[in-house]
Amino acid sequence: MRKLAAGNWKMNGTSADLAAVRAVAEAAPGGIDVLLALPATLLDRARDAGVALAGQDCHAAAKGAHTGDLAAAMLADAGATAVILGHSERRADHGETDDAIRAKAEAAVAAGLAPVICVGETLDQREGGRALDVVGAQLAGSVPDRAPGLVVAYEPVWAIGTGRVPTPDQIAEVHAFLAGRVPAGTRLLYGGSVKGSNAAEIFAVPHVHGALVGGASLKPGDFAPIMQALA
Ligand code: G3P
Repeated sequence: MRKLAAGNWKMNGTSADLAAVRAVAEAAPGGIDVLLALPATLLDRARDAGVALAGQDCHAAAKGAHTGDLAAAMLADAGATAVILGHSERRADHGETDDAIRAKAEAAVAAGLAPVICVGETLDQREGGRALDVVGAQLAGSVPDRAPGLVVAYEPVWAIGTGRVPTPDQIAEVHAFLAGRVPAGTRLLYGGSVKGSNAAEIFAVPHVHGALVGGASLKPGDFAPIMQALA
């Protein structure tokens, strides 16, 4: 399975940052896939930068009266080939449920986008011994029956932007659990405080096929060692 280094820029990036997109494309090693989930405002302008692009969310409807939302086909039209769905920040900030995420994923598939579906437990849920139950329920509820190109990202909420990373054993347990429940060929990414300094250890964990990287994807100099660790 080809490894995947995915960057999630979240709500960061303006036209001044297009040079960073090009620099990531130039630094990308051969033999792995690289994907940047840019803010939608930059997608069309980055489409010729030499790196695959993703949106960070889409609406479940194909079009219509949904002020401020974007349809999956619009992301595809702007140059995206994938879309992140169900990120914990959207689950928390926008109350997205597994049902809503599955509907969005179905819309993404209909528009030809590969869905990158995020799952992950909170610290309370982990400390309560419920991590597998939570990610299992999220997976069962949010992944559509048919999802070509599906990617699932395990992002423990407590590891996102905190510098706190699960142990390799903790990652291994969740990834093995997910591997037994996703269609064959599905890539499983780990996300949460991935950096150049911890990437190799994380990528050595069985069933980890790459990373979904937030903060360290914003600067090519930070993202390059993560890509290299996968190559
Ligand atoms: O989607 C990526 C993400 O939530 C991880 O963010 O900044 O901890 O790498 P970060």
